Amino acid sequence: MILVTGGAGYIGSHTCVELLNAGFEIAVLDNFCNSKPEALERIKELTGKDFPFYEVDLLDAEGVNRVFDEQPEITAVIHFAGLKAVGESCAMPLRYYHNNITGTLHLCDAMQSHGVKSMIFSSSATVYGDPASVPIREDFPLSTTNPYGTTKLYIERILTDLHAADPEWNVVLLRYFNPVGAHKSGLLGEDPNGIPNNLTPYIAKVATGELPFVRVFGNDYPTKDGTGVRDYIHVVDLAQGHLKALTKSEPGVHIYNLGTGVGYSVLDVIHAYEAACGKTLEYKIVDRRPGDIAECYADPAKAEKELNWKAEKTIGEMCADSWNFMMKNK
Ligand code: NAD
Ligand code: UD1
Repeated sequence: MILVTGGAGYIGSHTCVELLNAGFEIAVLDNFCNSKPEALERIKELTGKDFPFYEVDLLDAEGVNRVFDEQPEITAVIHFAGLKAVGESCAMPLRYYHNNITGTLHLCDAMQSHGVKSMIFSSSATVYGDPASVPIREDFPLSTTNPYGTTKLYIERILTDLHAADPEWNVVLLRYFNPVGAHKSGLLGEDPNGIPNNLTPYIAKVATGELPFVRVFGNDYPTKDGTGVRDYIHVVDLAQGHLKALTKSEPGVHIYNLGTGVGYSVLDVIHAYEAACGKTLEYKIVDRRPGDIAECYADPAKAEKELNWKAEKTIGEMCADSWNFMMKNK
């Protein structure tokens, strides 16, 4: 059985569907601080399968222990639970360090005391800071520019130290690039509260008419059209990467970029979304967003070679699935 922390969230819920469809047994832990119970119902509806759920906060060490006590068949953990808003992490660094790092320490303690030594961790391309060149390989230097990123880097180090102290640990650090899109059914997707920070949820709200125009943060970057370039990856491709990572069952610390290897500019994404929703979307060039980098895309060759995983879905499918989700969840 796989314990999925943060399984009600955006990437976690899609991964639960893939796990259940592939025949894995799962248990889910979440405190719903950034998700809703409805996501769990939708996972069950999509897969026709049931699973134990624990409404537990990772900051509650006893609660976390109880999950392992009650589910002795857990053999591995996919650890999505964490706070992820960069701007909020700058305003509330202690909340981020506490939630993400202390929460992970509680989880590792409970795993260790129950003899579970296999973890797949949701890291981020943010650990590469402002890379000297692209595409980014896993052996590039690491640095961070905000507390959220620092929590990811520290957790990577904590898990690496855990393996150094006890070489039986099997740690997989998955560095995600920019996850977008939604489940084909339109039942699962990303719909942040308030005004979205990230590009595609923002574009989606312009397409529905909830926001008047897309703010393009700068067109004077040294990129093909001057706007920022990122490696957008369909959330279902990303979810499938976790199943492949489960096959990496030998002890060690295994690090993989999960990206497509292709960079798209902000204007590319706006145009792809226009094609998906059949509307012209207004946009305005505004100042650069502080902390943004020009270009960030993966070299995904290591994941392909060692995990036999490759992202398949196009930017058109990412936008079409996002739009379908918006239409089905008005
Ligand atoms: P999400 O917010 O949708 O999901 C995270 C889930 O964790 C939520 O359901 C939330 O309620 C839960 N959670 C948070 N803190 C918790 C705690 N203390 N105890 C129990 N549950 C808790 O985010 P997501 O986009 O699905 O991201 C999943 C993971 O991937 C996160 O760790 C995130 O940092 C990482 N990541 C995300 C992105 C991205 O762009 N979405 C990129 C890189 C890495
Ligand atoms: C952001 C986070 C990063 C995190 C990632 C995934 C920052 C600085 N970085 O990455 O740590 O891992 O999300 O959650 O927040 N853009 C616009 N207009 C908008 C929004 C974005 O032009 O309204 C541009 C940005 O300048 C960037 C691109 O779109 O070039 C993507 O932005 P976004 O979706 O926020 O992701 P990242 O900044 O890459």
